[in-house]
Amino acid sequence: MELAENYTDNKFSRGASAPHPYLRTIFEVSDKYLRRVFSESLLNKFKVDCFENIRGDRDRTIAEYVKSYYALVKKEYQNEYTGASPSLNESIFSDPGVPKVLWGDCLDFLKGMDSESVQLMVTSPPYYNAREYSQWETLDHYLEDMSRIIEECYRVLDNHRPFVFNVGDIFDNDNLYTKSVWGKRRIPLGAYFTTIFEKHGFRFVDDFIWDKGEVETQRHKNGNRPYPLYQYPINCYEHIFVFYKHRLDETLYPCPVCGCIKVNGNAYTAVGIKSWECKNLDCFERSAANRGKRFSARSQLMNDLQQPDNLVCGDLLQRWRRDIVQFPPVIKTNSKGQNTLGHTAPFPSEIPQYATQVFTGVNDTVLDPFAGAFTTTIESFRQKRNSIGIELNRTMFRDAVLDRFSSTINIHPKELGNEWI
Ligand SMILES: C[S@@+](CC[C@H](N)C(=O)[O-])C[C@H]1O[C@@H](n2cnc3c(N)ncnc32)[C@H](O)[C@@H]1O
Repeated sequence: MELAENYTDNKFSRGASAPHPYLRTIFEVSDKYLRRVFSESLLNKFKVDCFENIRGDRDRTIAEYVKSYYALVKKEYQNEYTGASPSLNESIFSDPGVPKVLWGDCLDFLKGMDSESVQLMVTSPPYYNAREYSQWETLDHYLEDMSRIIEECYRVLDNHRPFVFNVGDIFDNDNLYTKSVWGKRRIPLGAYFTTIFEKHGFRFVDDFIWDKGEVETQRHKNGNRPYPLYQYPINCYEHIFVFYKHRLDETLYPCPVCGCIKVNGNAYTAVGIKSWECKNLDCFERSAANRGKRFSARSQLMNDLQQPDNLVCGDLLQRWRRDIVQFPPVIKTNSKGQNTLGHTAPFPSEIPQYATQVFTGVNDTVLDPFAGAFTTTIESFRQKRNSIGIELNRTMFRDAVLDRFSSTINIHPKELGNEWI
């Protein structure tokens, strides 16, 4: 600690360029608590960094200090995972001005990504058996593969952030007992996926029912006899699930008002969010009953996101006010019944547009692990987010990179950096 003490003393004598004296108060009041969170050497380095870099009046000093503290805690947490690839992370988290397109199996890429490095995931999974790219012999094989991917997504998704997951309860053969046409049934994929998400720690929060109107493919048994037991409805909805990650985090965090860590664990919410109460009697905000500020890492995150740039468009909120939303699906066939989109099942841009605006701030990172035609990547890029898409199918990947990015957001293949295309 000696080095940091001397360093701060020297800094204090530097007049205009010196840090605000309140920074020293933060470290003095918090010392005992900081030592419970960081090792001696890390704390020393943190202190030096703060005195070196944090400038401005008291309020700014507190805000910057709190931000640096959270960043350091996150770095330490990320260091616990040993599978990350520094070069992959360097390339996908640098330069938010370029969408990041990755060709390959998302499970491999996810394994190389830093923990808690993505603020939103939006996707629709490859539909079991419903499309040409289906590759699973039985429904169980499909769900097992999806489960492995969702588990890894949980690690990579930032804490207190959502995964928006669009899936339909398709009508098809699950291939578990029979492969004949008699094996066809309505498969409640929404229910199966909810179980998988919950198994891996996600919290089910919302389920928007997407009303697709009069759908192109009228999949389901539809008895053409007007008698009992012949009737089944045409399937015209899909789920748009919102699952949250709330990893219980017992780390001590500084009070957002005074910046000091002299806090007591206050409560756990039902979803496992730890909240804290400031016990610093000199804190600038005390309740009428003289209680300190109560806060959590999640409330801090929500406060940080309240910036003018992150204001959600009123029209969008109105359209998604209820949990049944209506917009048409992407039409694949033309008037002659020909498939115009080829090997793809894109979802409408309404889904990533809503998810990006409602769940992220500018400069956050949005990932679609099953990017398809890269609808999420294009939409979140439009909204100034760092956007990453992963697609396994080479033809779809090429089509998107060679055509879709340039025709929608004027980003040309060379800019995407895939010289091997
Ligand atoms: C339903 S589509 C996604 C459509 C996308 N939302 C869009 O708007 O275009 C699912 C995609 O996942 C891809 N896929 C399947 N398994 C994958 C994997 N392991 N890694 C990456 N992509 C995969 C498929 O090739 C397919 O393009």
